[in-house]
Formats: sequence, C-alpha cells, structure tokens
Amino acid sequence: MTVTIVGSQLGDEGKGGVVDLFGEAADVIARYQGGDNAGHTVVEGGTEYKLSLVPSGAVRGKVGVLGNGCVVNPKTLFAEIDDLREQGLDPDVRVARRAHVILPFHRVLDNIEEDVKSDTDLKVGTTGRGIGPTYEDKMGRRGVRIGDLLDPDVLRERLEYVIPQKRALVEDVYGIDLEEVDDVIEGVDVEDAFDVDAVYEQYERFGERFAEEGMTVNAGEFLADTIDDGGEVMFEGAQGTLIDIDHGNYPYVTSSNPTAGGTAVGTGLGPTTVGRGEVVGVVKAYLSRVGSGPLPTELGDIDEQEEGAGDTEADEIATYIRDEGGEYGTVTGRPRRVGWLDLPMLRHSTRASGFTGLAVNHVDTLGGLDELKVATSYELDGEEIDTVPSTTERWARCEPNYRTFEGWADVDWSAVAEEGYDALPPEARAYLEFLEDELDTPVYAVGVGPDREDTVVRENPFE
Ligand code: IMP
Repeated sequence: MTVTIVGSQLGDEGKGGVVDLFGEAADVIARYQGGDNAGHTVVEGGTEYKLSLVPSGAVRGKVGVLGNGCVVNPKTLFAEIDDLREQGLDPDVRVARRAHVILPFHRVLDNIEEDVKSDTDLKVGTTGRGIGPTYEDKMGRRGVRIGDLLDPDVLRERLEYVIPQKRALVEDVYGIDLEEVDDVIEGVDVEDAFDVDAVYEQYERFGERFAEEGMTVNAGEFLADTIDDGGEVMFEGAQGTLIDIDHGNYPYVTSSNPTAGGTAVGTGLGPTTVGRGEVVGVVKAYLSRVGSGPLPTELGDIDEQEEGAGDTEADEIATYIRDEGGEYGTVTGRPRRVGWLDLPMLRHSTRASGFTGLAVNHVDTLGGLDELKVATSYELDGEEIDTVPSTTERWARCEPNYRTFEGWADVDWSAVAEEGYDALPPEARAYLEFLEDELDTPVYAVGVGPDREDTVVRENPFE
C-alpha cells in the first residue's frame, strides 16, 4: 500500500504537515521530484524544523528517500542533516544514484537567466536554487548523477564536458563577463563554479561522504523491497499542480512533475504499484503564490500591500490572511500573493492526479472574516468554463464567477482538533462539504493549525 501526497494548487498548501500526520503509519517516505526549492516546516512539540530537501518524515525517524526524479544539492543536503543531528535527531536519508546533482554553476545560471528576463514578462521568480538548469542538463544528457560522484573518473569526464559549455553560454550567449558579476551569487563562488578542478574537488568529497555514510541506493529496488517486505511507503510531493512543468501555467512553473504521475517515474516503481494506493490532494482553504504568473482570484495588489499602500478591501483581506497564515516563503522569505479558493483550479488538479481524498489546510486562518468567496467557474471570451484553460495567456484573461460563503469565527482550534469534525463551526463545515460535492472527493483531514495535533482526521488513508 502506498499513499501519495500532492499539492493541488501552487505549492505551500501545507503538505509537510499532512505527510507528517499520515506518514506516522509509513516506514519509508520518498520524494519523487524537486530539490531544495521546496521549503517545508515540520513542527513537533513546539520545535520547528525547517527543511528544503530532507523528506519531512526523516524528522520522525522514518527512512527518507530522495528518488531519481529529484535534483539534489549535496551541500544543502549535508547541511540539513548536520543541523538535524545538532538538534539531537539522527535522520536516515537515502539518495537515488540516478538522481541528478545540482552543481554550483546551475545556481549561478538560474540567477543570470532570471536577471536577463527581469525586464520582460518571462521572469518566473524562481527560488534561485538552480532547479531549472539542472533539469535542463538532465534532459540534455549532460547532467551529473549522484552515482557519478562515487566514481571520480566519470565525474571528471562529465565536468570536463559540461563546464566549458556553460562558461561559453554565459560569456558568448548572455554576453556576461564572469569577472564582472558579483563574486558570490546565492552562496556560490562564481569563479569556482565554472572551474573544472574546483568543482571536481568539492564534489568528489561529497561523493566520499555519500559512500562513507552508505546513503546511496537504487531507489526503485529499495522501495520495491520495502513494499515486498510488508512495509508502507508514502510519496511526498513538493510544489503543486499549477506549477507542474506539464500541467501548470507554463512557463511560470518549476521544472518537474509534482502531479501524482511523477511518483512512478520519479522513484522507479510502476504506475500499477502506485495506482493501487491512495492519492491525497492537499488544498489550502484559500490561495497563495510566490513568483509570477496568473492568479485569477488574487486579492488586491501585492506591490501595494508590500509598501503598506494597498487600502482597498481586497488588500486588507489579503494582508489579514497573509499575516494570520504566515504566508511568507519558507526558502526565500518573500511575501506571498493571496487569493480566494479557486474551484476550476481544483477540478484540474483532481483530474490530473486522480485524488482519492483531500486534506484541507488553514481553515483556522480564515476564521474571523465576515464572508469568503470561492470561484466556482471562469468567464472567458463570453463563455463560462469550469476548469483551467491550457494556455497561460487564456488563463490570465479568466474572470472568476464567485459564490459567497458566510465566514466563521476564530474559535479555540486546539479544542476543535481534539473534539473532531462536528466541533468545527457550521459555516466551515458548509464550506468543506461544498468542496467535497464539487470535486466528488471526500475530505480526509482538516488542518486547523500548524502543529500535527491541530488536525481533524476523518480518515487515515493507510488504515
Ligand atoms: P524553481 O522551482 O526555483 O525553478 O521556481 C519556479 C517557480 O516555482 C517559481 O514561481 C517559484 O516561486 C515556484 N516554486 C518553487 N518551489 C516552490 C515551493 O516549494 N512552493 C511554492 N512555489 C514554489
């Protein structure tokens, strides 16, 4: 039995908490895509663990696997493991030998490309972690995989091929003199990033540490053996459906597949194995977005809100939700744009991932608002449509049709979590049941606070 946890919106739906909650029954928690662009916060007993690469379950003594579909920055990975060890934990993390390695020049290139695009509508607002450039090299068959770090000759050969190409890209295509850019970009020494010997030395040492700690695996085999031995496996999606490279709002997307189909290719298990399990879509009770791209239900204007100048009712609601919900990027600290819940978006993600259940988070955050809105369909070129159009330009032109809901009070949410579903304010239950009906998918869990205990569980997919 496997359970896959998928973000149904734009990332930051609170997947970490759901993985943490349902993952209690799992033996292994595997990530199948993304890299250290995925900030997740796990709170236990008042202690907060901020992770970006280590699967959340590793905080609870589960085996964490980074599947072949992930891109791994060894520097981040070892720093997170060292930090957790300092906090008294002993995380057991295994990394697929087929996973690709984020190299220092990937980070530099990510930032240079965003800079080049900065005056155009093409700027994505990436996390600057080198994710896109690493997946590009994977698909371009010039990447370096974790397994290559274990073989110094292979590592050197790969670097000698790829690094001169990247230097030429920066100098000849972007016309940038590397001597003239900042010495350090995103924590990377720019000169060393394009120097074969410097990268080789650093990454060979990472390879030694991977070998010494016995961390690398054939992920597919490792997971299949776990299942054959009767173990339970959970797949932890990072980011969300609308920033999926295929099903998201291209080009304002990340470079991997957060949707449930990514689980099979990103771990080496068959779709039949994954498909026998459950797929839980994590939904935030409103929307938030970091980075560029359309957001039809956006509340007010983020630039004005940042300057404290936004004074419309929509700006005020956005600011209230942002502050109550802590809507600031975990990785970057950037304030997030905020919008109303969007059903066309959720219909799209429910189909793309085949959700068997939903976990709805941040129901507490909306407590205290007089009324709430939910987009039930869009108006586009005089037509009513009920899902997300396949081109981003058309999506950007969609005007939401809203249904208004009565707000609910800001109650004692810990008491609600303890007492169960019926203790939720009736207006909140009406909101959740509307969602269930519209998406024809049951709500398994309702998040009413950041801690794992602050969740109303109606059904555990592992049981
Ligand atoms: P990248 O993944 O750094 O290449 O960024 C591409 C887009 O995905 C940008 O709009 C990012 O803000 C967004 N993104 C990447 N990771 C996350 C995440 O964990 N949560 C929300 N948005 C993300």
